[in-house]
Amino acid sequence: MATTVLTGIKPTGTPHLGNYVGAIKPALALAETASKALYFVADYHALNAIHDAQKLRGLVLEVAATWLALGLDPAKVVFYKQSDIPELFELSWILSCFTAKGLMNRAHAYKAAVARNLGSRGGTASVDDMDDLDAGINMGLYSYPVLMAADILLFKTNVVPVGKDQIQHIEIARDIAQRVNTVYGPTLVLPEARVSAETAVIPGLDGRKMSKSYDNTIPLFLPPEKLRKLLFKYKTDSSPPSEPKDPDTSPLFHLYREFATPEETEALRGRYRAGIGWGEAKEAVFDVLNRALTEPRRRYAELMAEPERIDALLAEGAARAREIARVTLEETRRTIGVR
Ligand code: ADP
Ligand code: TRP
Repeated sequence: MATTVLTGIKPTGTPHLGNYVGAIKPALALAETASKALYFVADYHALNAIHDAQKLRGLVLEVAATWLALGLDPAKVVFYKQSDIPELFELSWILSCFTAKGLMNRAHAYKAAVARNLGSRGGTASVDDMDDLDAGINMGLYSYPVLMAADILLFKTNVVPVGKDQIQHIEIARDIAQRVNTVYGPTLVLPEARVSAETAVIPGLDGRKMSKSYDNTIPLFLPPEKLRKLLFKYKTDSSPPSEPKDPDTSPLFHLYREFATPEETEALRGRYRAGIGWGEAKEAVFDVLNRALTEPRRRYAELMAEPERIDALLAEGAARAREIARVTLEETRRTIGVR
């Protein structure tokens, strides 16, 4: 069966090693086997959080350059930015007319924001406090899942590679599509989430999941010396070098494994068991990481020096994406009785 794969990348921070291993690498691999792949920068999703024009523009370029530098081939993958596809916003409105408000009330990001507000009120609230519980929450955050459903459904997507935290959003997209299909008969294609393996969760400098929210990340394209310095900040215990160490519980080993050959991984496993100094382990991680990142780092720097080239690539991608988008939107408009 022909499969369309699609995913969105929210430009809200400088891409880090966790993003590469958990999202970029598997998505690029998936694109190789799909009959059609569409990957896009979700800049209008980022707008509900980033209200600084220069920052948003900078992050869009960084994210786009990162994917291109790491091997996304724009001849094979339709690569664009969300804001270049006007059809999305029309479909988004259509979908919102089929979306139960209660479904949005249950979306994680919104619920988490309400919970924070409730917490700051001491944990109790009545209906009269509704305004307070929604404090600081804009409609962009609230209807985020509807726009995301439009992102997916506009391209008749079958498979959406995402992180675990996004599964609910794909379920919501299915719910909304099903609701439309129930009313009008088969119209929209139901998407499925594809989550990469749990083992691909990269630990950050403090041992927790690497995440920009924890401020424990290693950005992908640091100059070698900075990369080395940061790797040496990985939290380790105070066991002496001669003491045998468990590779499987070591974040450093975990990182090593993602970038080393199987032979190299086995060799380091042996050194852990025999006793290895943390300094040596960090040096080993630096070597394989730096080896893997040298070429992409060069390509990234080249692209960032020529933002017009990135813009031109994204514009070409948008033109191709809109050819598909126009067809689905036209079909949907007819289906609902709008011509
Ligand atoms: P962050 O946690 O830094 O905010 P995002 O939520 O923007 O990162 O994640 C973007 C993508 O990168 C998601 O698919 C997510 O699953 C993946 N990802 C983020 N951090 C990690 C990590 N530490 N290990 C593996 N994958 C990750
Ligand atoms: N919400 C996703 C995230 O935060 C980004 C995203 C926007 C997306 N639209 C999408 C992902 C459509 C997959 C499909 O990571």
